[in-house]
Amino acid sequence: MSLSEHIAEVIFTEEQLQEINKRLGAQITKDYQGKNLCVVGVLKGSLVFMADLIRYIDVPCEIDFLSVSSYGNGTTSSGEVKIIKDLDGPLQDKDLLVVEDILDSGITLSFLLETLSARHPKSIRLCTLLDKPARRRVAITPDYVGAEVEDKFIVGYGLDFAQKYRNLPYIGVLRPEIYEEA
Ligand code: IMP
Ligand code: MG
Repeated sequence: MSLSEHIAEVIFTEEQLQEINKRLGAQITKDYQGKNLCVVGVLKGSLVFMADLIRYIDVPCEIDFLSVSSYGNGTTSSGEVKIIKDLDGPLQDKDLLVVEDILDSGITLSFLLETLSARHPKSIRLCTLLDKPARRRVAITPDYVGAEVEDKFIVGYGLDFAQKYRNLPYIGVLRPEIYEEA
């Protein structure tokens, strides 16, 4: 059975995702002229998006990754977040751009903003591929947003359901049977 047979509806095609990346990359390129950009990916969800996005950023930049755990049930975060894989070095001379797959309750990114700001980088901004504003529980406004989405659980292009479907090259909604079997 092909992975696409697990998908009920496509929300963003590969072409639409590349259009988004191109637009965000151009905006970031303009804003980071003469800066010391370090793109920080939040693992694992940002992996695919970030890999594409950085190829549309036309200024010198470093990349780094961190990983956070949130104790949830596979589809939602519980509110408790901690860093389980940290960045490599000091941040004092860096202009950080934190990259996430999707901004939902806002708990993950607001925790990261607070934790990383306390290390005094030169600047810190947030970039999310997708934003679900209807689900926000803490006030947070990302600096770069690929697209807003409705309150539907989506997978693909880095986004998972129970750690699977990250390798789907587009973003879609799973068929209800898949949740029921899990
Ligand atoms: P937040 O802390 O609630 O903003 O959580 C954001 C994280 O929740 C994202 O990085 C995803 O890992 C996960 N998430 C939220 N909505 C979805 C979705 O529709 N599909 C897959 N993961 C999601
Ligand atoms: Mg995530």
